[in-house]
Amino acid sequence: MSYNIAVDGPAGAGKSTIAKLVAKKMGIVYVDTGAMYRAMALYMLRGNVDPSDEEKIIEKCKEVDVTLGHEDGQQVVYLNGENVNGLIRREEVGNMASAISVIGEVRKNLVAKQQKLAAVTDCIMDGRDIGTCVLPGADLKIYLTASSEVRAKRRYDELTAKGQECDLEKIRRDIEERDYRDMHREVSPLKQAEDAVLVDSSHMTIDEVAEKILSYCEKKA
Ligand code: DC
Repeated sequence: MSYNIAVDGPAGAGKSTIAKLVAKKMGIVYVDTGAMYRAMALYMLRGNVDPSDEEKIIEKCKEVDVTLGHEDGQQVVYLNGENVNGLIRREEVGNMASAISVIGEVRKNLVAKQQKLAAVTDCIMDGRDIGTCVLPGADLKIYLTASSEVRAKRRYDELTAKGQECDLEKIRRDIEERDYRDMHREVSPLKQAEDAVLVDSSHMTIDEVAEKILSYCEKKA
């Protein structure tokens, strides 16, 4: 049986940074499920699909095969065979991913792939529904959060470091809108699983959060 850690939480809580670090320290694989929704979203953006046109999205998603692979220890997401890692991090793609992920048909296909992968791979998987739906039997479940102000500031710093101009207040509003959509959708909303450990990273460093998760792993073992 494989060893699985589930990490859920809102956008910008630090899930991917932390999960990558924990994966490295434990020698297990990091699986970023958001990248799968983003790849699907990229396909919809390329096809100029209206994010509110559910029927069209369901029809288009039958044309899409999203798969994950690993190259040089890094996750690669393929959209119909094309490596789209470099194209899925834009805000526009994240917003489309959040919009299409409310649709059950979109989720069904991706969740099945995630479950198949986790069944044969020791991994730490992050997303919104990992502890509640994808891996209800995970060995450890973490719900990682931080205040929307802190998350917006982190995103702001990330973008300004890349030389992109941005507005902190707008980022905060976008984050809160995305949280609301992710938490209030009918299918698999973002919520803390009953048996998940809550970690608030607002006033913690990356290393402190990673250490905390590693200590929970030891306790569980
Ligand atoms: O984690 P992220 O920002 O890359 O995710 C992008 C969007 O995909 C997010 O707003 C909601 C959706 N998502 C989801 O519904 N379920 C997951 N397991 C992962 C992401």
